[in-house]
Amino acid sequence: MGKIIAVVNQKGGVGKTTTTINLGASLALEDKKILIVDFDQQANATISLGITREDVKYDIVDVLSTEILEKAIMKTTVRNLEIIPASIKLASLEEVLPKTSDRIYTLDSNLKKIKEQYDYILIDCPPSLGLIVDNALYASDSVIIPVECSFYAYDALTQMVQKIDEVQKNKPIDIEGILLTKLDNRNTFGYKIIEKVEFMFPNKTFKTIITSSSHIQEAPMHGKTVIQFSFNSRGSKEYRELANEILNK
Ligand SMILES: Nc1ncnc2c1ncn2[C@@H]1O[C@H](COP(=O)(O)OP(=O)(O)OP(=O)(O)O)[C@@H](O)[C@H]1O
Ligand SMILES: [Mg+2]
Repeated sequence: MGKIIAVVNQKGGVGKTTTTINLGASLALEDKKILIVDFDQQANATISLGITREDVKYDIVDVLSTEILEKAIMKTTVRNLEIIPASIKLASLEEVLPKTSDRIYTLDSNLKKIKEQYDYILIDCPPSLGLIVDNALYASDSVIIPVECSFYAYDALTQMVQKIDEVQKNKPIDIEGILLTKLDNRNTFGYKIIEKVEFMFPNKTFKTIITSSSHIQEAPMHGKTVIQFSFNSRGSKEYRELANEILNK
């Protein structure tokens, strides 16, 4: 019980945050208890779940630097889905963490205290490979790597997988799956990327593919997941399928 999954890719704009919130909402719908950790100073996951900057009293930096863990956990409008919000304070994480080599285990030691209260903890990572992502990887049992069906995405994926291999030398961590996102199905190019990724990582690529959808894009503007915003839309269906693929593994 209690699995921690980091949603990572050092490439920006590939669908990490979109996947974190919509997969989180889909798992919550299946009666799983979910915590999202917003680990990006952009705070996109926090804002997409309808939480404003003014609503946030304590954020993930307070969790990592003080003893206020439980106080930072906020409810969302999705039943079974809670979040530890982020703020711009994450930009100064380097200064807040201890200077010792175990600083990469700060998130890990905090999440261990609450892991058993949740079925899944999803960590929304920033587009980088620095201290924040190290903290996320050392706290996680597995990773989901969203990959946009575009030309540059492929190169970034190879680097990301190398990074996971490095971490694996120090602690066990699985690739939960590579998730192809933002497929434009009017254009054959995206399918070529899918073929390449499935060929390179045949057992690691999710069967579910997330197509490009205006509902997915618009939902955060209303502070909602696509599941709440448009339950029957294709984007909502795809994220619910992804949740089932993960649950039925
Ligand atoms: N399936 C999709 N269809 C249409 N738009 C999408 C889809 N997935 C994500 N987007 C849009 O693409 C943009 C980037 O998505 P998102 O913020 O989830 O990526 P990210 O990897 O978290 O980015 P960053 O690296 O900046 O954190 C957003 O505007 C989002 O609404
Ligand atoms: Mg993001």
